[in-house]
Amino acid sequence: MSVIENSKLAIVGAGAVGTSLAYAALIRESAREVALYDINSAKVAAEVLDLAHGTQFTGASRVTGGDDLDVVSGANVVVITAGARQHPGQSRLEMAGVNVEILRDLMPKLVERAPDAIFVLVTNPVDVLAVAAQQFSGLPPARVFGSGTVLDSSRLRWMLSERVGVAISNVHALIVGEHGDSEFPLWSQARIGPISLADWMLARSEPGAARSGGTASLGSVPFSEAEFESIAEEVKNAAYKVIEGKGATNYAIGLSGARIVEAVLRDEGAILPVSSVLTDYRGVSGVALSVPSVIDAGGIARVIDVPFSAKEQALFEHSAATLRASLDTLGL
Ligand code: NAD
Ligand code: LAC
Repeated sequence: MSVIENSKLAIVGAGAVGTSLAYAALIRESAREVALYDINSAKVAAEVLDLAHGTQFTGASRVTGGDDLDVVSGANVVVITAGARQHPGQSRLEMAGVNVEILRDLMPKLVERAPDAIFVLVTNPVDVLAVAAQQFSGLPPARVFGSGTVLDSSRLRWMLSERVGVAISNVHALIVGEHGDSEFPLWSQARIGPISLADWMLARSEPGAARSGGTASLGSVPFSEAEFESIAEEVKNAAYKVIEGKGATNYAIGLSGARIVEAVLRDEGAILPVSSVLTDYRGVSGVALSVPSVIDAGGIARVIDVPFSAKEQALFEHSAATLRASLDTLGL
């Protein structure tokens, strides 16, 4: 798809995540202009220069930016990645306080400069910050939401696609709830192509068949409960593993962010599991959690009421209670 005329994406925070989003957005031609803002003058100037030096190869988009907040002026979408990141072993919820204070200062200034923008939170804990940003901006929840479990769902889809040997685009599966330790896969609604995941039959290979180059099959078996649980755990702990090895996650969230931005700027009506302040969604209100949401030029057009199994409903309520407790300690 070609770049949208006159569209402007502003990215607040030019760290590992903000610059990866800028890079992805330039390569994918997600917006006509990508503007980066950071309080670290030398860093943001260098990042803008480095990205600009590559724009011969990125199509019609251009990159601008600096340490003056006015660089976000007139943006159609503002993605917020500014703030502290997790240290190895630290949970997302443990870093809430400092990032809420950054938002308290930033949101009114951003809204003043980009009054018509859709605001997408990426900074963690993203579900807490989606609530904070919505309150500090006074904008409706449809216009201020978090990237939520778009990234986690991509992790899940990748793991399933590797496991079953089917293209990731044909694996339809979602992580919902918190972007964090209480998240869970919506197994009851997962499909591979036209087949429900519960009905998918895995080839049961003879032990050692792969080592000897063979694919000997002993018939086929469905996914076991233990395997579902182990995949869910692996998705939940994916960020900890990457942070342990390289200090941050950046490429996959950069791509996830670019995908959300495109859904807005292209007025797509795409269904993505973003995190917005819910009102009586399966009985949950007043916290931001990820559920499948229709994204268009106005932000979240609507959230989709998906059937949950009884176990999924209990997990969703647990996720909501976890977030409520965190919001309460922050006075939000
Ligand atoms: P980073 O330390 O590399 O970058 C953060 C940047 O924010 C720095 O350049 C810093 O100067 C800037 N900054 C701090 N205060 C600012 C302010 N008031 N205004 C403008 N800029 C400011 O961190 P990172 O690795 O890029 O991570 C950024 C955030 O994104 C973290 O909170 C991280 O946990 C989160 N994250 C979220 C997801 C997700 O799926 N939601 C995925 C990855 C990372
Ligand atoms: C992630 C970040 C750390 O990669 O929230 O999931």
